[in-house]
Amino acid sequence: MQDFLRNLPKVELHLHIEGSLEPELMFALAERNGIELPYSSVEEAKAAYRFKDLQGFLNLYFQGMSVLRHEQDFYDLAMDYFKRASSEGVVHIDIHFDPQAHLQRGVSLDVVMSGLLSAKQEAEQSLDLSVGMIMAFLRDRPAEEALQVLEQAAPYWSELDAIGLDSAERDHPPSKFVTVFKRAQELGLARVAHAGEEGPASYVIEALDLLDVCRIDHGIRCLESDEAVERLYQKQTVLTVCPLSNVSLNVVDSLTHHPLPALLDKGLNVTISSDDPAYFGGGLLANHIACAQSFGWDEEAFLILNRNAIKEAFTTEPRRQELLARLDVVKY
Ligand code: HPA
Ligand code: ZN
Repeated sequence: MQDFLRNLPKVELHLHIEGSLEPELMFALAERNGIELPYSSVEEAKAAYRFKDLQGFLNLYFQGMSVLRHEQDFYDLAMDYFKRASSEGVVHIDIHFDPQAHLQRGVSLDVVMSGLLSAKQEAEQSLDLSVGMIMAFLRDRPAEEALQVLEQAAPYWSELDAIGLDSAERDHPPSKFVTVFKRAQELGLARVAHAGEEGPASYVIEALDLLDVCRIDHGIRCLESDEAVERLYQKQTVLTVCPLSNVSLNVVDSLTHHPLPALLDKGLNVTISSDDPAYFGGGLLANHIACAQSFGWDEEAFLILNRNAIKEAFTTEPRRQELLARLDVVKY
């Protein structure tokens, strides 16, 4: 099974590129940029990655990304992950990135975008990997700031596939961002949002109704509302579920109790992703292996999940057809 999962062409729709920053690279960039880290070693950093909840993780996530200052740092961050993912059989990734978290530290949008876009171009040329770009807004910051960043990103609109909504979910409902998402719609950008991770099922419904999203990131708490499940089922809105992330952030108490099988039983359009692989115990392959072990799924289940992901990936139609055709000939 592990060989099958490694060789399977896998697609991940939910990955925060800043959350792919491994401690080894964090230390290298800290040294390069003369930045002091609160850890004395890679081991000490890894030992600190035990989270009570989403906010506990976000504190270390924002601290970790403080080593990213120059275009080269963003390029190195993304290429490091793209190479690792590609070596594990990942063929497409839609990346989230958090411009506000960098702007706040005095790092310009040009620095962030040029580094990430060069890495995307390099990966698409030299690896068997396509990359989608999701500019995410921090929902615990004011909506006016998000709108301003979206306008500021005008030179890059044509490079973006979508906008997203992430960071601390509780008490920051989708309704807060209606104006930003309307503007993105006017610009012809797709919309996605985290909802139903720590927040209630009603946020899933709000994201569908008020933000007109084509994707719900996480969404697992939809199971607490028949209406949310029904709406997701009727529209077949894709859910980007991140099993190892949910266990790390205590959104579920163990993988064996994870609602993934229940979501599939309801006929929902489920996919799996790694979210923040450097912090949550592994990338997309590790998430696949963990699901195989915890749920006893057969090969067909993983073909279905990756077919779902390919159909919804932010990529060109020829690439989508190519990836679907490659799944059709996978042997097991
Ligand atoms: N949830 C919300 N915001 C995030 C996450 C997450 O899992 N990872 C990075 N930003
Ligand atoms: Zn996420």
